[in-house]
Amino acid sequence: MVAETSRNSLKIVVVGHVDHGKSTIVGRLIHATGALPEAKFAAIQAMSAKRGMPFEWAFLMDALQAERDQGITIDTTQIHFKTDARDYVLIDAPGHKEFLKNMVTGAASADAAILVVDGHDGIQEQTRRHAYLLHILGIRRVVALVNKMDLVDYAERRFVEVRQELLAYLGAIGLAAADVAVVPVSGRNGDLIAAPSPKMGWYTGPTLLAALDAIPQPVAELDLPLRLPIQDVYKLDARRIIAGRIEAGRLHVGDTLLFSPSSKTARVASIESWNTSGAEITAGAGKSIGITLDEQIFVERGQVASHLETAPILSNVFRARIFWLGHQPLRSGARYRLKFMTNDVEARVEKIERVIDTADLSSKPTEAVERNAVAEIVLRARAVLALDEFTTSPRTGRFVLVEDYTIVGGGIISMEGYPDQRVRGSVKSTNLTPVEDRVLLADRWRFNGHRSGIMWFTGYSGSGKSTMAMELERILFSKGFQVAVLDGDNIRHGLNADLGFSPEDRVQNIRRVGEVAALMARSGTIVITAFISPYLADRERVRAAHRELFHEIHIATPLEVCEARDVKGLYRKARAGEIADFTGVSAPYEPPPSPELVIDGSKETIADSLARLVAYVERVFAIDEQTLEPPYSI
Ligand code: ADX
Repeated sequence: MVAETSRNSLKIVVVGHVDHGKSTIVGRLIHATGALPEAKFAAIQAMSAKRGMPFEWAFLMDALQAERDQGITIDTTQIHFKTDARDYVLIDAPGHKEFLKNMVTGAASADAAILVVDGHDGIQEQTRRHAYLLHILGIRRVVALVNKMDLVDYAERRFVEVRQELLAYLGAIGLAAADVAVVPVSGRNGDLIAAPSPKMGWYTGPTLLAALDAIPQPVAELDLPLRLPIQDVYKLDARRIIAGRIEAGRLHVGDTLLFSPSSKTARVASIESWNTSGAEITAGAGKSIGITLDEQIFVERGQVASHLETAPILSNVFRARIFWLGHQPLRSGARYRLKFMTNDVEARVEKIERVIDTADLSSKPTEAVERNAVAEIVLRARAVLALDEFTTSPRTGRFVLVEDYTIVGGGIISMEGYPDQRVRGSVKSTNLTPVEDRVLLADRWRFNGHRSGIMWFTGYSGSGKSTMAMELERILFSKGFQVAVLDGDNIRHGLNADLGFSPEDRVQNIRRVGEVAALMARSGTIVITAFISPYLADRERVRAAHRELFHEIHIATPLEVCEARDVKGLYRKARAGEIADFTGVSAPYEPPPSPELVIDGSKETIADSLARLVAYVERVFAIDEQTLEPPYSI
């Protein structure tokens, strides 16, 4: 379906407790808007009469369902109706389980929701869970219906009670009151669906339809940044056709496309669209296309094409809010297949941050997530993935988890606390001609009487990095080593005075420190760096660039011990909410999987730690003529 229509359309999902009258409301809506043919209306009336019931709107849903099963007129999960203002697509799922599954898998991605609550029974656990699900899925506009007003004699007092409870809950999960309309209705009798109700003269707000029409039109998918996940690459004649469905944005012939995560670029030479005759020069969201490129770069399924300025994030780790559907609980450390866009990769649950109780919104730490629970987790893949955050790209920022060919969960991607790993500081300028050093490193080593390198300390704030670094420097200096320290709190006053503690700033902090440390090490110095350096990828980047110089020392004093000591009083402030993004409290720390040395300040004395560090330095930085062979020989 190409979205290039002149009329706006809004996708709506109908949620609520299974007995609170969802189908009746849907029936009323499509009848009121003329989307239900008279013949069908009459048939349902007859069917109801035969069973001695008043008009039963639920039959309508059954009728629609029957057609759906036979695949006749209604497509799988969508019912269409229109008002003067715009077109609507109602996303409905036949049952509770399917509904949840469709919601989390994105089979149903809605712009707004109708939340149905029984005015008589009031808010139930399922109402809360569904409302929370809306929150997870980033649906911010809600029309809440207090239904079955006929059962409570259309009493204003009851409506006000339920509305208050509803608004309190929706407010607590972060929905702004301005984005929520609460309408009293009777699905059975049709009150306040499309017209004012004389039985509720006390109500002055909009009808259901008016409340829907009042929802602002969301940004069209065409206007979002381009996302073309690659489905396949075909060889046709001598041409290579790259095929996929444009999930967001649009592309033109001649555009430069960036393929992620490979970061290769090429220009669109032609657009080969299926089912259309003639060459196209532009294509937009919703369209399945094939393109050819002006250069033969390596492209494969799973990659995503974007424009250069609006590239997806690159990361092998992200945070996710998930809804768990698996019969077996989700466990920390477990591996699942992670499917998103056209990707299918293995991912490990690195951490379960918390499970959220949708009834009272309390959250608690846990090692397992049970079926139907909502949780926040951290997922890690082996390779770097091209990702979108759900909040900026709803269509591509979601995923499902699969185990044994079954969907066991779904969720949305958040990069909160994690940086984009797209390499910043790649070379910006052209016309550069690097020159070669005329003093060899091996000669510097001979001159100093020891090798040089980087002793990279990593660990929590308060773990003892600085104390140990300064003491180690003093001892090594007194033993005749050429040694220097780069310390976080100091460097952040000078070289990195422009950086804060956002994930991106930390990446930049570590990138610069890595460069400086390497320059110093290459001039013959043993450099001790004392930075939290919380991200694995950042440290690995320094290691990869200076493999022969890099020694990673994990100052592994446990967080509880660092926090209990709280030498600078920062943990207390962070817990009180006075410092944002504080490592270990509100920002992540990724320990090194295989450091050269581990020092745990809670298990040994500083003197013992130092003795081990000095012994390490004396061993690995010792000069041995044989090891000064190439690449360091003269
Ligand atoms: S890093 O994460 O970018 O490597 P770095 O080691 O430079 O951090 O700086 C950490 C020091 O800054 C801490 O020891 C602490 O004194 C101070 N600090 C201030 N705010 C924060 C914060 N939000 N998170 C961690 N450390 C902080």
